[in-house]
Amino acid sequence: IKKMAVLTSGGDSPGMNAAIRSVVRTCAYYKIECYGVYRGYQGLIEGDFKEMNARSVKGIINKGGTILKSARSTEFRTPEGRKKAYDNLRAMGIDALVVIGGDGTFTGAIVLNKEFGFPVMGIPGTIDNDIFGTTHTLGYDTALNTVVDAIDKIRDTASSHNRLFFVEVMGRDVGHIALNAGVGAGAEEILIPEEDLGLDRLLESLERSRLSGKSSSIVVVAEGDKTGKNVFELKEYVEENLPDYDVRVSVLGHMQRGGSPSCFDRVLASRMGVTAVESILEGKTNYMVGLLNDKIELTPLENAVKGKSKIDIELLRVSDIMTT
Ligand code: F6P
Repeated sequence: IKKMAVLTSGGDSPGMNAAIRSVVRTCAYYKIECYGVYRGYQGLIEGDFKEMNARSVKGIINKGGTILKSARSTEFRTPEGRKKAYDNLRAMGIDALVVIGGDGTFTGAIVLNKEFGFPVMGIPGTIDNDIFGTTHTLGYDTALNTVVDAIDKIRDTASSHNRLFFVEVMGRDVGHIALNAGVGAGAEEILIPEEDLGLDRLLESLERSRLSGKSSSIVVVAEGDKTGKNVFELKEYVEENLPDYDVRVSVLGHMQRGGSPSCFDRVLASRMGVTAVESILEGKTNYMVGLLNDKIELTPLENAVKGKSKIDIELLRVSDIMTT
């Protein structure tokens, strides 16, 4: 192995830059040439490569987003697009590709490997934490802190005005952000995609809170929650059924994806990048590096995509007890 390339793809997440830095510097340490690919798989197709050395990644460990930029490439979904990408990798003499992203990114890498036998390695970067084979994806910890901070601020208004807020957080398929940030911010209820707590239960719980003398309520709602109603519909539903409540909605949106990565994400990214490069050098490819029991472990990329990342159901129980 003489040359490696690294790209970021899919939704950006805090810690991606720290991972790029780690891959580039580990390559430099082992005297491997390293190329950054811009705009994910689209840049691979267009041959948008730049040679990087240890100094190219200075001052980025603390930066959100990704200096390599990201894209969701539709052309890479076609066999012709993938052939162009492969041809570019070959023309550059690249021996292995490190991809940083979520399940869509990994699926792309798996197909590239299946079709052309090209060696790939995945680093999980997404705020959703919806990847099997790691307890933490890069950006998840930072996003949790961002969300908790935002809810703390919303709580100030909620309690000053005796209001109920529905706060929508990201998480299309999994409730990691909603559940953990909800517990961390002391939310009265948490609605997630994995469990349908039912609208009756929501009303009961809100009524109980009101009668127990609570001056404010926060309901954290994951984007993909199971009630079948979005935050605005939930607001209307509560206003119709519990007219005593003064209800507001706050959709946190993409601010959850930005910002300087937490120390946890920076350290995790540094560890993952080192293992990604070292594993390739040891001949281990088509894996994802993940964090399991505080150790960096490899999981076959296929399993990382096929497996389900499960929420901690016990945490739901803890949340129930905390809102007594
Ligand atoms: O996968 C990360 C994520 O932020 C999801 O939580 C969210 O549903 C989605 O990306 C938003 O995607 P986009 O940036 O394309 O709007």
